[in-house]
Amino acid sequence: MSPSEPAVPEAATEADFEVELPEVGQLGQDEEWCEILVGGERRRIRFHDYHEIYDIPGFYERLFYDKLECQSPRVIRRLLARALTELGTEPGELRVLDVGAGNGIVGEELRELGAGAVYGIDIIKEAAAAAHRDRPGVYERYLVTDLTDLARDERDTLAGANLNTMTTVAALGFDDIPPHAFAVAYNLISTPGLVAFTLKEEFVAKRDSSGFSNLIRRMFDEEVIRPLSKERYRHRLSVQGEPLYYVAFVAEKVNDVSLAWLD
Ligand SMILES: C[S@@+](CC[C@H](N)C(=O)[O-])C[C@H]1O[C@@H](n2cnc3c(N)ncnc32)[C@H](O)[C@@H]1O
Repeated sequence: MSPSEPAVPEAATEADFEVELPEVGQLGQDEEWCEILVGGERRRIRFHDYHEIYDIPGFYERLFYDKLECQSPRVIRRLLARALTELGTEPGELRVLDVGAGNGIVGEELRELGAGAVYGIDIIKEAAAAAHRDRPGVYERYLVTDLTDLARDERDTLAGANLNTMTTVAALGFDDIPPHAFAVAYNLISTPGLVAFTLKEEFVAKRDSSGFSNLIRRMFDEEVIRPLSKERYRHRLSVQGEPLYYVAFVAEKVNDVSLAWLD
């Protein structure tokens, strides 16, 4: 980990609010919540209710970066930068599809790395609105859509964008991006191409039931992707202050993935 990794990304403007973490016993990662005191009102918000979090400028950064020390976007940027050096590829050649783009923190890292173009996709409109509000100009285009049900014009836009890299950070599994949507996004980028993603450690394990462990293993085994780097790291702290470990992968795309594998 580089010393600069825990730095907090800037949000454009911050409303006057306080965030408090609850003192609770065991909570699953998809059950975590906090309280926000804003405008004299106290509200309880689940971490997975992203639409409510993105609606308040600076809330996502305060919660996940200031309080819970999230590192994932910076880890992916560092590993991607290293892969580019090893491959002798200029960052400006990257035309990235950032899947589960949220309010644009990964897009911002990619721009700072020097990516030539970044397209964003998220399933909720509040994410796109927050990205435009907090990080204007980072994304060439930002689509609000379901990858498993793309409209023809959306497919045409993405096909015409000459995308050669896919990123998806802290967005796979749970109730977020399912394996099918991951595979569709992966097939939207060119061959050869690059893919960089993070996955909760448990979703990489053989006993995982999210579907990612089987899919990723098969993609490597059947050489649909060729590994460039893999790193276990602390994604963030839980509400109880315990480390949550993820695995970051950077790999070269060698072939499309068969959607039949997901049946
Ligand atoms: C924890 S946030 C991560 C956002 C961003 N990648 C980051 O690292 O800051 C997960 C994001 O995935 C999005 N998401 C969930 N399910 C999705 C799906 N099926 N397709 C696209 N995005 C999805 C959520 O709306 C949310 O913005």
